[in-house]
Amino acid sequence: MTVPYKYVGRPIEELISSGYYDPETKKVRAIKGTELHVRSRDWQIEGPLRMLFHVLDEEVAKDPKNLIVYGGTGKAARSWDDFEAIVDTLMSMESDETLVIQSGQPVAVFKMDKRAPRVLMSNAMLVPKWADWSIFRQLEAKGLISFHQMTAGCWAYIGTQGILQGTYETIGYAAERHYGGSLEGRLVVSAGLGEMGGAQPLAIKMLGGVALIADVDKRMIDRRISTSYLDTWTDDLDKAIDMALEAKEKKKATSIGVLANAVDLLEKLIKENIVPDILTDQTPAHDVLQYVPTSLSYEEAIKLRQTDPDKYTTLSYQSMVKHVELMLELQKKGAVTFEYGNNLRKQAFDHGVEDAFKIPGQMEYMRPLFEEGRGPFRWTSLTGEPKDIYDLDEVLLTLFSKNARLERWIKNAHNYVKFQGLPARVVYLGYGERALFGKIVSQMVRGGKLNGPIWFGRDHLDSGSVASPFRETEGMLDGSDAIGDWPLLNYALNTAAGATWTCFHHGGGTGIGYAIHAGIGVVVDGTELAEEKALRVFTVDPGIGVARHAHAGYPKSLMTVKSKGIKIPIFDYLEEKSKKVIEEAKKEGRISDYTYQRVKKDLDEYLEKYKKQ
Ligand SMILES: NC(=O)c1ccc[n+]([C@@H]2O[C@H](COP(=O)([O-])OP(=O)(O)OC[C@H]3O[C@@H](n4cnc5c(N)ncnc54)[C@H](O)[C@@H]3O)[C@@H](O)[C@H]2O)c1
Repeated sequence: MTVPYKYVGRPIEELISSGYYDPETKKVRAIKGTELHVRSRDWQIEGPLRMLFHVLDEEVAKDPKNLIVYGGTGKAARSWDDFEAIVDTLMSMESDETLVIQSGQPVAVFKMDKRAPRVLMSNAMLVPKWADWSIFRQLEAKGLISFHQMTAGCWAYIGTQGILQGTYETIGYAAERHYGGSLEGRLVVSAGLGEMGGAQPLAIKMLGGVALIADVDKRMIDRRISTSYLDTWTDDLDKAIDMALEAKEKKKATSIGVLANAVDLLEKLIKENIVPDILTDQTPAHDVLQYVPTSLSYEEAIKLRQTDPDKYTTLSYQSMVKHVELMLELQKKGAVTFEYGNNLRKQAFDHGVEDAFKIPGQMEYMRPLFEEGRGPFRWTSLTGEPKDIYDLDEVLLTLFSKNARLERWIKNAHNYVKFQGLPARVVYLGYGERALFGKIVSQMVRGGKLNGPIWFGRDHLDSGSVASPFRETEGMLDGSDAIGDWPLLNYALNTAAGATWTCFHHGGGTGIGYAIHAGIGVVVDGTELAEEKALRVFTVDPGIGVARHAHAGYPKSLMTVKSKGIKIPIFDYLEEKSKKVIEEAKKEGRISDYTYQRVKKDLDEYLEKYKKQ
């Protein structure tokens, strides 16, 4: 294409003329192929450039024209000028330089060495006393800060597959606990078909169930239908419920979207005395201006958000209160109910729903994974080669042949997952497994067995990378839910270990004031140095997760520390702490009866195996 005058002579010109970026329409395309574009000819810099373009590809991002990747308003860069400046910088950087990004804006480049990360980011951070949405928005309006969710600003979002797998795992664990592992003949009700919520219908179908999901935005329903994440839809609540009940009766795995407000759907279910088997929600309740109140149509909501945000806020909170009250009512009637990390309970609690936290959070099901350092590890083919991903699937299936859940996920992914942008895969791998797999991949890249380098990363929702008291760190055994040192240590460790890029963020998932978290990008390009750094990152990253949970008193983490030989200086004290905090957590009502029984059993197992008392 012809390059506008403003860009002539700038490094970004090459990407404009190759059609990867159109500055007029703001269209960004994932860069594929083996030809390098950065002047350093270094995959450690080409990698972050490609992941930035990937997250903004229209196949991947929710609202790419506004740089929004997912999760309400999670951006990849602060503004288009900042995006272009980041690209110019990456294109012209040397292999021993490090780009520093502050809330999506490139602010400095320093000479370092090749072992250091090539990009360091801190996004949306505020001093704790100032950390609320209203101050954040004032500062955002002044152009000083911006919101980057978790993997949006860290350039680690892989489209709906990431959340599809996470939702599949979470609902899968709920199904395992309550329904023997299958959702056959079960009705799962939720709302929100956005970037993350859009994975719900397919994940539920993969588990054999019937999904009934409300969304107020027809475009989101259309998008899910067109990508086969949703089977069918209607705008008629009665019809939607009838369809769902019929499928449940016939034990047919399917998904039904309904163009309606979540509150209206739940009210209707209660009126008809229909109790879902599982009930959750993925509306963007973390952000009061994104959640659509029941009293407004979608079009009215969009308008009021701009014309009268205060009135909108009042209506939004009123609606969230009603929403949680209805969820509590259905929970009482027998629905297995949990919050899917959107802060809906806290919003309702702050506005008068005292019982809001009778609904558990998703960690009720995910915590055991985190205790072993297991979490959403992911990779992309940086050259855009789908075969590389399928070949690596085969490696995984051989390497972890005893992991039935992993095998089932990979098979389902082959059937259902369409690649978006750069082809990708996500799998829950734990301490030891990530380094083992990373080493094999590095050797395959070096030996020419893959088309080119592989990028690795993970969600910030991981074992040791996040402090979010209403989500990932809710109900920690020792009450350390709000301790923010752990994600900061995670960021520092991964930076010291030499990740290609590291990110420290605020507000992802549960919103400003409620979460801090860290992320990584690691490019395995076949060189010895990249392999050495990657293996260190793949060890310390889940390692600090195991340590964090061991220090909180989880016996399963103590077992992992012992079996994997992780060094912990005050280990004997942790054994004593574990016994104490399990009882305290139970007494103070911070954990469910189920969790209490589970950790007690783990403790007995640990003592039996390692203490021989
Ligand atoms: N804990 C986790 O692992 C996890 C994972 C995924 C999402 N989440 C949370 O879920 C929420 C949704 O994430 P997303 O990326 O899908 O957001 P999104 O902004 O892309 O989509 C939200 C969708 O909800 C719809 N919506 C808004 N209000 C509604 C209402 N009252 N009734 C029905 N539909 C409504 C919108 O039209 C939109 O389609 C966020 O708060 C996110 O943090 C948490």
